[in-house]
Amino acid sequence: MTTRRNVLKGALLMAAAPSAIWAQSLTDEEKSAAKQSNADPTLAPDLLLPERDMAWWRDAKFGVFVHWGLYAIPAKGEWHMFNDKVPPEAYAKLAHAFNPKHYDPDAWAALARAAGAGYMVMTARHHDGFALWDSPSSYGHFDAIHSGARRDLIAPYVKAVRRAGLRVGIYYSPLDWRFPAYFKPKELPENAQLFKRQTYGQVEELMKNYGKIDVLWWDGGWLAHSGTDADAAWFWEPDKLNRMVRGYQPKILINPRSGWQGDFDISEGGAPITGPIRARPWEKTFSINSAWGYTPEHNVMSWEQVVRLLVDAVVRNGNVLANVGPDRDGVIPPKQAATLRGVGEWLKRYGTAIYGTRPGPFQPVDNVYGATRRGDKIFLHILSWPNDELSLPPIDAKITKVRNLSGDAVDWRLTGDGLTLSVAPKARGVPVTMLELTAQGE
Ligand code: GLC
Repeated sequence: MTTRRNVLKGALLMAAAPSAIWAQSLTDEEKSAAKQSNADPTLAPDLLLPERDMAWWRDAKFGVFVHWGLYAIPAKGEWHMFNDKVPPEAYAKLAHAFNPKHYDPDAWAALARAAGAGYMVMTARHHDGFALWDSPSSYGHFDAIHSGARRDLIAPYVKAVRRAGLRVGIYYSPLDWRFPAYFKPKELPENAQLFKRQTYGQVEELMKNYGKIDVLWWDGGWLAHSGTDADAAWFWEPDKLNRMVRGYQPKILINPRSGWQGDFDISEGGAPITGPIRARPWEKTFSINSAWGYTPEHNVMSWEQVVRLLVDAVVRNGNVLANVGPDRDGVIPPKQAATLRGVGEWLKRYGTAIYGTRPGPFQPVDNVYGATRRGDKIFLHILSWPNDELSLPPIDAKITKVRNLSGDAVDWRLTGDGLTLSVAPKARGVPVTMLELTAQGE
């Protein structure tokens, strides 16, 4: 129960240690490394979704991530409060200034559709603690209703995304820098109780009050920015938390960052993807601009770079969740939007080799090729041509036809060692040559 006394006590505990909050700073690499989940696979395996409930997500392959919150105002990225050691009371002033005049989630959803995405994920609450919805459980009423926006910003997002025919994802971070207990959960038990209660309350609001939600994207399940998400399981009890989630949303996909293993794995950042096909479904997530939250567009990825990562993920059993950071008014900046549209144009031509496929039968060769398949079709995604010809190992099926999805010519022949292919240099696709093989037999 949230009694007035507890709230007051919590406020005092908060006030007692404001400067201690910012005693440390982390490099980006440290942040990502510490976010390794390392979850215990024996914890609540009964919560894992059956394959049939994961199928829509595995078929969709591509999602658009949106990092948006008060941090769009100072425009220094979503870690601004922590990185620049802004005291919670000073940071809270941003809520009054927050009045997103051009927030139009239908426009976001239309852009995601034009990008060829099948789902969106939006930060309902990041580590600064500001809730983008009407959140009675928010500690100190730090939510959209009590901000300059004066309205719930998650409800229209959920409706717009659903209306556009996309699946709806919500990102939630239990981490909240306003609570000293985040940094000292054992030393500050009362503050820790308030902190934990906020997470349980807010997640319940999000899962209960907005209709069907398709993805819950946890982040920051760790404590004091150290150890792994799983190390903090003693505190968050992620089995209990996710059981509550599934009580409201029986078919929701849950990522692994609450400390519970989750339905799929995450790989964060724009680094190249290498290695064999991964057994568990997974998602590559990165930001198209340099930060996740809004910053000026100095370093925006091209659509070709995103397509390259998409292909490298899909041939290894992965999805891509590509992030954009809308500005303080709610507008997705133009270069990020252009990159998304470029991906969409490419997917219009080549999506048949991406959507609804599964990886194989060929194992990927790093930087050279990978494969997907569906029915009797095998799709080859060729990233580079080390020689004029490309030779593939034999498979159990007989190849009866090869087609270049661009419409250009392709030469092919079967040899005792497998399939040999060649495409004239000017007919090779940018950034990938996409071929369709028809196979007979298993
Ligand atoms: C990074 C960032 C964090 C962001 C997350 C998304 O860990 O530090 O702010 O929300 O990536 O995966």
